[in-house]
Amino acid sequence: MSLYSTNGDNQVVIGNLPATQLAKNYGTPLQVYDVDSIRQQIRAFKNEFTKKNISGTVSYASKALSIKAIYQIIEEENAHADVVSGGELATAIAAGFPAHNLSFHGNNKSRFELDYAIKNGIGMVIVDNFHELDLLDQVLKVNNAHVNILIRVTPGISAHTHEYIQTGQADSKFGFDIHSGQADHALQIALANKRINVLGIHAHIGSQIFDTQGFELESQKLIHLLSNWEEKYDFTAQILNIGGGFGIKYTNGDDPLKPEAILGDVLDHIQHEYDLLQKSVPSIWIEPGRAIVGPAGYSLYTIGSRKDVPGLQPYLTVDGGMGDNLRPALYQAEYAAVLAENPNASNYETVHLAGKYCESGDILIDHLKLPQTKPGDTIVILATGAYGYSMASNYNRNPRPAVVFVENGEAKMVVKRETFADLIQNDLDY
Ligand code: LLP
Repeated sequence: MSLYSTNGDNQVVIGNLPATQLAKNYGTPLQVYDVDSIRQQIRAFKNEFTKKNISGTVSYASKALSIKAIYQIIEEENAHADVVSGGELATAIAAGFPAHNLSFHGNNKSRFELDYAIKNGIGMVIVDNFHELDLLDQVLKVNNAHVNILIRVTPGISAHTHEYIQTGQADSKFGFDIHSGQADHALQIALANKRINVLGIHAHIGSQIFDTQGFELESQKLIHLLSNWEEKYDFTAQILNIGGGFGIKYTNGDDPLKPEAILGDVLDHIQHEYDLLQKSVPSIWIEPGRAIVGPAGYSLYTIGSRKDVPGLQPYLTVDGGMGDNLRPALYQAEYAAVLAENPNASNYETVHLAGKYCESGDILIDHLKLPQTKPGDTIVILATGAYGYSMASNYNRNPRPAVVFVENGEAKMVVKRETFADLIQNDLDY
C-alpha cells in the first residue's frame, strides 16, 4: 500500500486536494489531516470488536494530537478519549467533548488536575500510584463526589520497540507492580473507599508495536491477575484495558500487520483465555493514538537552501524541522517524503532533508531519494499525524504551524499558525 495518492496531474493529493494548493493557501510549514482516514481507522477498530462479538471501547490516546477539532471528530465517531494532563482535559472540554467519555491518565496528576477532572465529571481516572489514591480520596471528599477508576498495573513485559517509549516493563515509572503485591494493595485501598468505584484494570506495554505477541502476553498476565482478584477479593472487573501501541507504516520498508488485524488476533487470544477459565470476557478497551491520527497526517514544507558537500550527500533545507517534528531528532524516527508535484519524476538524487533549526541533529530524513528540486518546491513528509504537532515547540522562537483538516474535498483550518505576537505574549519587561 502506497503512503500517498496522486491525481491525474501527477500531484500529491490529501483527501483529493493537491498538496501544492494547500501549501499555497495556508503557507508552510503546514500540518494537514485527511479526516476520512481518521474516521476509517476508528471504524476499523470498532469493526473488529463487532466481528469477534466482544464488547469493546476505542479510547483515543489524545497525546498523539490534542486539539479541539480532533476531539470533535472522535466524538462524532462515538469513541472515547484519554487525556494525560489538565491541558488536554481543558482542550477536550473546550471542544465540547463529553467528560463522561474521557479517561484521565498520568503518573503524577496534581491535586489541581484531579480536582478539575472531578469537578468536570470525568468518566474515569486511571490510577497510577499510591500518592494518587491518597490525593484522589482528599479531592473526592472536598467535592463530595464519587469516581470510577481503573488500576494501572505494570505487567513486566517489554514490547520490542524503541527504548524511550517502553512503559510496560517491570522497571517503569508507570503503574503498580503486579509481582510484589503493589497492585493487590492498591485494589484493597480502592475497594475500601466508598467514593471510589473500581471498574477494572489497565496496562500499556509500549508503542509502535507490530506483532501480537506482546499484547497476548500482556492480556494473559492481566487475565490471570483478575482471576486472582476474583478469588481473593471477590472483585469482578467490568473493564480490561490493554492500552495502545498499535504500530503503523512510516516508510515503504515497513510492512506491518494493520492495526485492526493486530487487534483482531489479540481479541481471539483474550476470548480463548476466558474460554479456558469458563468465564465471560469483560469489556475490552484499547487506547490507540498513533494508529488513529498517524497515517492521516501530512507535513508540508517549502524547500529553501541547498548545501553541496563535495563527494557527499547534499543538504536540502526546508522551512520547518525539529520544532514541528521532534521525532527524528529524539528517536531517530524514519519517515518517507515526496515532492508534491511529479513525485515520480526520474533524475533522482539522495539528500539529507534538513530542518531550519540551529542544531546539527535537526535532520528530518537522513537519506532521502528525491527528483531534482528547486527552492520554492513543496515537499510532503508522510504519516506525520501522531506526536508531531503534539510535541511541537517554539525552539529558536519559531511559530508553530497551522493545522488544516481536509474532508469531502474541502479544507478547514483548525489551528491557526502562531504569530510573532503569540510568541512574545507571555514575556514581561524586566
Ligand atoms: N495509552 C497509554 C497509557 C500510553 O502511554 C500511550 C502512549 C498510548 C496509550 C498511545 O500509544 P500509541 O497508540 O499512540 O502508540 N512520543 C512517542 C510516543 C510516546 C507514547 C507514550 N504513550 C512517539 O513519538 O513515538
